[in-house]
Amino acid sequence: MTTSFSETLRNATWGDHQSAESEGYLSELMGGRLNEHEYGEMVAQHYFAYVALDGVSRQLADHPVAGRFVFPELYRERALERDLATIYGPAWRDRITPSKSTGTLVARIHQVSDWPGGYIAHHYTRYLGDLSGGQFIRMELQKIYGYAKGGGVDFYIFDELGSLPRFKNEYRARLDALEPDERERQRIIREVKLAYQLNTEVLTELMHVVKAAA
Ligand code: HEM
Repeated sequence: MTTSFSETLRNATWGDHQSAESEGYLSELMGGRLNEHEYGEMVAQHYFAYVALDGVSRQLADHPVAGRFVFPELYRERALERDLATIYGPAWRDRITPSKSTGTLVARIHQVSDWPGGYIAHHYTRYLGDLSGGQFIRMELQKIYGYAKGGGVDFYIFDELGSLPRFKNEYRARLDALEPDERERQRIIREVKLAYQLNTEVLTELMHVVKAAA
């Protein structure tokens, strides 16, 4: 039996996932050891990354291949704006700047945007994660900071998608339907590994910021 592309991709990158998941910043956050503004540092970095990812998605909406992965219900910019306003108040824009690692991630998202496999690699790494472990993160954050819907953790709320397991199955079916040849499979896998690495570096840099402030 041949393994589907979505399964191959998951298996080939699960080790990279484990490195991302066990990054110190997330442990501190999930352990309830960060104050609200220290949590906001991550929300701010998400904001810059998703302005890039959602912007590229809008540009690719009509692309015959990449366009199959463009779902306006996934766009996160507005939700992140509400979260930042809740955390930092109305002047939130003056408080946030992209970190060096976020700059690198954003540059890479733009750099590969003319290659459908590259766009899909970054899209998959972020959104499928937000719809998976992200849901666990949301529940923990709601307990720690007492946020309700409307600001704080809206980034993790995907009401417009309906059933998340159903959507994730549909997403995996679209990955499978790509039927990339072996060379393209390997190229996409390499880009997902890079996407994990760049996202993990954002978290590592956040940990330094938090430690320096302590
Ligand atoms: C506290 C941190 C995290 C936890 C507890 C966590 C947990 C999980 C779990 C349980 C799944 C499997 C869900 C399923 O099979 O439906 C999953 C999937 C996934 N996560 Fe995470 N995760 C975390 C952080 C991250 C980060 C930081 C990223 C990316 C930067 C990420 C990206 C992904 C992706 C892309 C998948 C989908 C894999 C696939 O099925 O193909 N996760 N996560």
